[in-house]
Amino acid sequence: MLFGTQPYDREAFDRARTGSDPEICYHRSHLNARNAVLARGADAVCAFVNDTADAETIRQLAEFGVRLIALRCAGFNNVDLRAAARCGIPVVRVPAYSPHAVAEHAVALLLALNRKVHRAYWRTRDGNFSLHGLLGFDLCGKTAGIVGTGRIARELIRILKGFGMEILANDPHPDERYAAETGIRYLPREELFAQSDVISLHCPLTDQTRYLIDAAAIARMKPGVTIINTGRGQLIHTEALIEGLKEKRIGAAGLDVYEEEAAYFYEDTSDRIMDDDVLARLLSFNNVIVTSHQAFFTREALDNIAHTTLQNVRSFLNEGRLENEVRAETEHAL
Ligand code: NAI
Repeated sequence: MLFGTQPYDREAFDRARTGSDPEICYHRSHLNARNAVLARGADAVCAFVNDTADAETIRQLAEFGVRLIALRCAGFNNVDLRAAARCGIPVVRVPAYSPHAVAEHAVALLLALNRKVHRAYWRTRDGNFSLHGLLGFDLCGKTAGIVGTGRIARELIRILKGFGMEILANDPHPDERYAAETGIRYLPREELFAQSDVISLHCPLTDQTRYLIDAAAIARMKPGVTIINTGRGQLIHTEALIEGLKEKRIGAAGLDVYEEEAAYFYEDTSDRIMDDDVLARLLSFNNVIVTSHQAFFTREALDNIAHTTLQNVRSFLNEGRLENEVRAETEHAL
């Protein structure tokens, strides 16, 4: 049972499915405690980033006989892993479907914001060929601070080094060999914030990383810093970010994720009045670009997601084998 299905999910899963695979039911609604009932009779449920598998949802899934939660994403902050363990429902995920897709989107946000492409696009359509307000800076020679040095971060670092940027990094598990090979420097988070012209977030959302960019962190940053978040919305305290933008301490922000995105992202809400004042304020800044959790959204990534998810489900249902399992201990290890 696929929750939160969009037409492109269905196309990718239909492409990847073989004749001997179990039947797939596609649901547009998100997985949560209200909709869990839709999974009655399913062996496995498949969820994405804005589905919620909290303790109550998982309790219901267990009651309905669901035996596996197969996430079709890398992050698993939306699943109560302890509740899943208690109910005996294993959780599997797609650890990497295209680190390139996410890293390249982070660069797209950075370049668009720095060179004001989003503003130039509208201006020239309206016959306004003035350069006023479109001044950018050379990335070459500037410093990028990368939080987390996993798969996506390493792709991003490779690209940013191509621009001639100096790279600082922060990770509770620094890979000194990688640092020596690539010429990056690991620093404590506070020092990274103080020295970086561009900050990009690539760590998972955990109790240790929630609101890692808050008012105190912003106060430490270089004036005019560009912040890119393709990680998870709650890595940034959005109201503190808005204050930083209003005080002009923050030069620009590129956000592919937002704390309260579940109510908006992936939906066309253009015929409704926006209730979320924080999101509305963010969208009012001309130096902020919000994209709708689309960093993963490439053809290659969608196909990889469908292939790995189906393989995870097949292994479990046919052979009782857990591939790409996540456990509460995994969360701790991060
Ligand atoms: P990964 O597991 O390869 O790397 C994560 C890195 O973060 C690891 O090196 C880990 O040691 C580090 N880390 C853990 N706790 C940390 C902390 N407290 N401070 C700094 N670093 C910490 O993960 P990957 O594939 O690079 O993905 C990173 C995140 O990107 C995912 O957790 C997910 O939330 C997000 N993501 C967003 C997508 C989008 O479409 N916007 C798509 C895919 C992932």
